[in-house]
Amino acid sequence: MTLRRTVLVTGGSGFIGSHTCVALIESGHEVIVIDDFSNSSPEALVRVETLTGTTPTFYELDLRDRPGLSDVFARHDIDVVIHFAAKKAVGESTQIPLDYFDVNIGCTTSLLRVMHEYGVHRLVFSSSCSIYGDALPKPLSESDVPGPTNPYAWSKWTCEQLIEQATRYHPEMRATALRYFNPIGAHRSGVLGEAPKGPLHNVMPYLMQVAAGRLPALNVFGDDYPTSDGTAVRDYIHVVDVADGHVAAVEHVDDVPGMQVFNLGTGVGTSVLQLCDAFAQASGREIASVICERRMGDVAVLVGDPRKVEVAWGWRTRFDLDAMCRDAWNFQTLNPNGYTAGVSPDVVAAEGRRAVGIDTVEA
Ligand code: UD1
Repeated sequence: MTLRRTVLVTGGSGFIGSHTCVALIESGHEVIVIDDFSNSSPEALVRVETLTGTTPTFYELDLRDRPGLSDVFARHDIDVVIHFAAKKAVGESTQIPLDYFDVNIGCTTSLLRVMHEYGVHRLVFSSSCSIYGDALPKPLSESDVPGPTNPYAWSKWTCEQLIEQATRYHPEMRATALRYFNPIGAHRSGVLGEAPKGPLHNVMPYLMQVAAGRLPALNVFGDDYPTSDGTAVRDYIHVVDVADGHVAAVEHVDDVPGMQVFNLGTGVGTSVLQLCDAFAQASGREIASVICERRMGDVAVLVGDPRKVEVAWGWRTRFDLDAMCRDAWNFQTLNPNGYTAGVSPDVVAAEGRRAVGIDTVEA
């Protein structure tokens, strides 16, 4: 029987955070959420309650607000922290790198300070496959040397190193960094899913809008990569698998001293055009695509070797690409406007016109 833990989830109303809250509650853990709602909506927590019957205690807070953060730690007897809260758009990070360093690194150091002050010594950190950079064309293992290619990836790699150093000099501390590949999909119910605020950065939210007829076509960023069809290859992983991986991490965070690092991926590579085909199948809609220039900071192939986590915890992913597309489409059809504070149809249509570089597109 699993020990019930009190888990503080920073960024708990975001895409991965909210799915993780559901998985933690369903596994019997108590959840406390901190979020500043900068890229998420409180509605996500209402939906966590819809699915679990439990409302997580939550605080609206920027983690860099040290007195505010201390207050949360003073009120609760926290066993483990899962730290998601961060800015996460690769393209945007090349435009405003200092914001990425300030938020992503600043939130992490503030959190480490307050955890230390309150004697909370267990941390699960949301890292990213992006730290591997323009890596070898083979499944990446945790021992491959990181080489970030953009400020977002640099911020994640820097945080990993800071946490690792912290565990070295504070041996009472134990941490796990999960480097996930590309999380997509949605909760099977369609109640929770990916509902970004503002402009769309990632491929799946875009595809959902194209299939819904709100954007004319997916802009495929580059068809001259050294891959089978020339488009970039990623290791897409179902968000529910990522959430379950965090529950496993919480339950194994005591296993070994220091910091452990694990990939969360499937080991299967999918190109942008293959993803379009899979989504067209799942949605029964046509997906038009337009080949564009490569996106700054992108790499050709990122596929993870998932064996280390399987050997350590006996944990592996359960869902394939069809399930990811099916669940994402289900969320889209049930929530055409995302959460209520999500992207409005007008904004989506305007974004579509801007993205394809034309003035008139029927919404
Ligand atoms: C990036 C990070 C990943 C992180 C994720 C979070 C890298 C290499 N990866 O994923 O670690 O978890 O952000 O946001 O830094 N694409 C299009 N058209 C679009 C959008 C995307 O063709 O409109 C292509 C991209 O070029 C890429 C793939 O689709 O090849 C996936 O892109 P995206 O969903 O943005 O994720 P990554 O940039 O791979």
